[in-house]
Amino acid sequence: MDQIAYVNGSFVPLAEAKVSILDRGFLFADGIYEVAAVLDGRLVDNASHLARLKRSVGEISLALPETLERIAEIQKELVARNQLVNGMIYLEVTRGADKGRDFAFPKGTTPTLIMFTTVKDIVNAPSAKAGIGVITVPDIRWSRRDIKSVALLAQVLAKQAAAEAGAGEAWMIEDGKVTEGGSSSAFILTRDDVLVTRQNGSEILPGCTRKAVVALAEERQLRVEERAFSVEEALAAKEAFITSATLFVQPVISIDGKTIANGKPGPMTNRLREIYVDFARATAV
Ligand code: PDD
Repeated sequence: MDQIAYVNGSFVPLAEAKVSILDRGFLFADGIYEVAAVLDGRLVDNASHLARLKRSVGEISLALPETLERIAEIQKELVARNQLVNGMIYLEVTRGADKGRDFAFPKGTTPTLIMFTTVKDIVNAPSAKAGIGVITVPDIRWSRRDIKSVALLAQVLAKQAAAEAGAGEAWMIEDGKVTEGGSSSAFILTRDDVLVTRQNGSEILPGCTRKAVVALAEERQLRVEERAFSVEEALAAKEAFITSATLFVQPVISIDGKTIANGKPGPMTNRLREIYVDFARATAV
């Protein structure tokens, strides 16, 4: 079966899904994206992703071409048309194609909205059992990382460096502290059993999975501190993990080749992963 994508009102075979070379997403990275997991054919935590989409487009004065309700309908229709059981759905909205290449917002262009799906068995991913190593890189991104912008070159370079080092993720460092992963939020569990993840602000993306994991942990009386932490603190921690829509909760077992604790996924990380998967299954729509 040909994979189907969505482009500006139409469902088309992926190979025919095209946008203009003058699209501002292509020329200026003038666009916003979201990625939501699909579990058993249903969207995980999608209300949270759509709320962040609304916020991100608002921050760059980009009007969505469809209502959030209609976007959710299109997402579901695309999942159904692709008979997607487990994987993710990507959506991107850009300021559209102008007649040329002017930096300032064009007048009268229609925003571009595209979506496609990818197959991935997130629940049974081998890296979730084995854990991953991370490397550290300087955080060279712009200062509005709270906006889920498609300008991802810094993360492309960071994650390429991780791949070349045989690591699963890059943790980005600013002022001696971890901001977040190239495409994930970073957590540690301290020796005193406190879950630590950086506070939201313009330095990081407010992760939807991060938000859910913090809430689920707090509901279970776990102590959570939202503050910055250093690599030294992470290396001295009991456990570490990352979260994202495409991984859920994934154990981190080493940083720059130095192991954390015994170098195995920690019990709290494994437990939080199970709790998150249960939450995802129970609330997916
Ligand atoms: N990335 N931080 C960054 C920089 C991210 O790009 C992401 C997600 C996250 C985690 O956010 P969430 O839990 O809402 O997925 C944190 C997506 C998955 C991506 O770019 O593929």
